[in-house]
Amino acid sequence: MAADQENNTGPGHVAIIMDGNGRWAQSRGRPRLFGHHAGAKRVKEIVRACKPLGVKYLTIFAFSTENWKRTQTEVSGLMSLFRQYIRKEARGLKAEGVRVRFIGDRLKLDDKLIALMDDLEAITSENDVVHLTIAINYGGRDEVARATKRLAQDVANGSLMPADVDEETLPRYLDTHVLPDPDLVIRTSGEARISNFLLWQSAYAEYEFVDTLWPDFSDEEFQKIVGAFGGRKRRYGAVPA
Ligand code: FPP
Repeated sequence: MAADQENNTGPGHVAIIMDGNGRWAQSRGRPRLFGHHAGAKRVKEIVRACKPLGVKYLTIFAFSTENWKRTQTEVSGLMSLFRQYIRKEARGLKAEGVRVRFIGDRLKLDDKLIALMDDLEAITSENDVVHLTIAINYGGRDEVARATKRLAQDVANGSLMPADVDEETLPRYLDTHVLPDPDLVIRTSGEARISNFLLWQSAYAEYEFVDTLWPDFSDEEFQKIVGAFGGRKRRYGAVPA
């Protein structure tokens, strides 16, 4: 893209840090898991909103490598919610043309969940309307470390020369290797942090931090943010002409 060019197209790839479920529930005197269940309903609405907005790729942060530090009740409740979500939504996602992928380290997840994730990826693999990527047990640093390990193995077995390693090489080893970089990263709940999400991939992303707690994040608000993106100037480090 030329320097200082106005974006008159929307963001093709939006990534979301869905924050605020716990506070949303606690402000209602309910357990944190109640907030996560309400948050899962929002996921469905936001996925549906993507196609008319021209958002082809949506990547959502569902569980971080740091989230294991939460109570056993919350962690197992979230894992059970992911299984439930996949069982309940699989048919609809397939029918609506959504291609689902998961990123993150699967090794720590339970076998039942892994099997459901594999199956959902397989049954939606021909879809191309919207590409939904769900990050579970995902951390940006962990992803770069795992990618580097695989890259180092290729150097060790002679299929990659150290001199050939450049900015194009590492992303081929990332979990997101088939995805474009995010254009826009949204974080809900008033926190202005990126919390280890898509560190490499978001180098040139625009950020939008909103106060709304995730269970209250409506498709209208999503639409407004995506619409406003068209007016942003992205310079990719260049000086305006
Ligand atoms: C952060 O809010 C949210 C999470 C750690 C979980 C995200 C999960 C969902 C939105 C639900 C299910 C998702 C799918 C894909 C089915 P928080 O709990 O840290 O909120 P707080 O900062 O208010 O405590």
